[in-house]
Amino acid sequence: MHMKILTIVGARPQFVKAAPVSRALAARGIAEVLVHTGQHYDRQLSDVFFEQLALRKPDHHLGIGSAPHGAQTGRMLEAIEGVLLGERPDRLLVYGDTNSTLAGALAAAKLGIPVAHVEAGLRSFNRTTPEEINRVVADHLADLLFCPTAAAVANLAAEGIARGVHRVGDVMYDSVLYNARLAELAPSPLDALELSPKRYYLATIHRASNTDDPARLDAIVKMLASLPAPVVLPLHPRTAKAIEGAGMVALQGSLRPIGPAPYLEMLALERHARAIITDSGGVQKEAYFFGVPCLTLRAETEWVETVEAGWNTLVDGDPARLASALDALSRWDGAAPPFGGHGTPARDLYGDGHAAEAVAEILFAC
Ligand code: UD1
Repeated sequence: MHMKILTIVGARPQFVKAAPVSRALAARGIAEVLVHTGQHYDRQLSDVFFEQLALRKPDHHLGIGSAPHGAQTGRMLEAIEGVLLGERPDRLLVYGDTNSTLAGALAAAKLGIPVAHVEAGLRSFNRTTPEEINRVVADHLADLLFCPTAAAVANLAAEGIARGVHRVGDVMYDSVLYNARLAELAPSPLDALELSPKRYYLATIHRASNTDDPARLDAIVKMLASLPAPVVLPLHPRTAKAIEGAGMVALQGSLRPIGPAPYLEMLALERHARAIITDSGGVQKEAYFFGVPCLTLRAETEWVETVEAGWNTLVDGDPARLASALDALSRWDGAAPPFGGHGTPARDLYGDGHAAEAVAEILFAC
């Protein structure tokens, strides 16, 4: 009998992570049922990613959409339970740390369906963020835990989780290696934006901790607007709403606000940026994969390797820390890591670009 895996996705980064794993599952002859919770529903955050990543249409689209955390997660839980009862998969597969991850893991665990978690073991040690709560719960419900890094394995060990833990590497690294070539072949977003390589910054802001406090958001926007080169700012809908709601404008100073960037355009914008300024987890790593310095608008990060390697620095929302990081960059010779770390290459930290195949192989064997 064929093995049947049910995959839950819902938000932009999960489409990126699921694409290489879906390909690997198909290559291994494992049947996959794809379920989209509908957490992200705007075309630019969802459909465009399915198209560019050649992800097939979801078998079930739950259409949940936005709501406060409890309501959003609760609606997903109920809908996923219904799908699981109908599909009766051998195993559920969830990715990362969103509310879709939490709802999927919880629904399956309650039905006695084993849960596999891709991107297990990451910790920011900041339980005030929804992502940290989601990933801790998902990890404790999972019986197969696919870790991207050695630090993730150690985090799980510290919480008493050793069984079912596999360090497979990072599926986002797989995705970047696979898609960076396609991105270079596609029309360049730099042309449309009249930008020259290495003469602009790329910034993203979407974490609740940065968008939901108008004073902090205003300080970050002003800080970015005052940079000495254009700052391309692909706006997540929640950030656009928060800026508008607070009576601020994104079009000021050096800022060049654009809509949410499709994946291939985002990869091109990242690769050619002078530096990236972000609060996204995935974007921090992508910066490192491309050898682009990253300034992170958070007080902590799950991707500690990027900081230890000297390619990422935590500036939080502090203009003085941003200024000193930019100062370091202005004196940077482009050879050694910009922020003085050990400079270990990405493949030694995040795998060899075949994490997805390793996931499929282990699932097949279980
Ligand atoms: C979610 C994840 C976050 C991930 C991010 C990637 C949680 C708790 N957070 O954050 O970990 O890094 O996705 O983007 O799961 N909205 C739209 N259109 C959409 C989707 C969202 O306008 O297609 C707006 C809505 O106003 C919504 C807000 O964005 O209320 C927040 O959406 P939500 O899915 O709750 O969280 P994200 O910020 O996208």
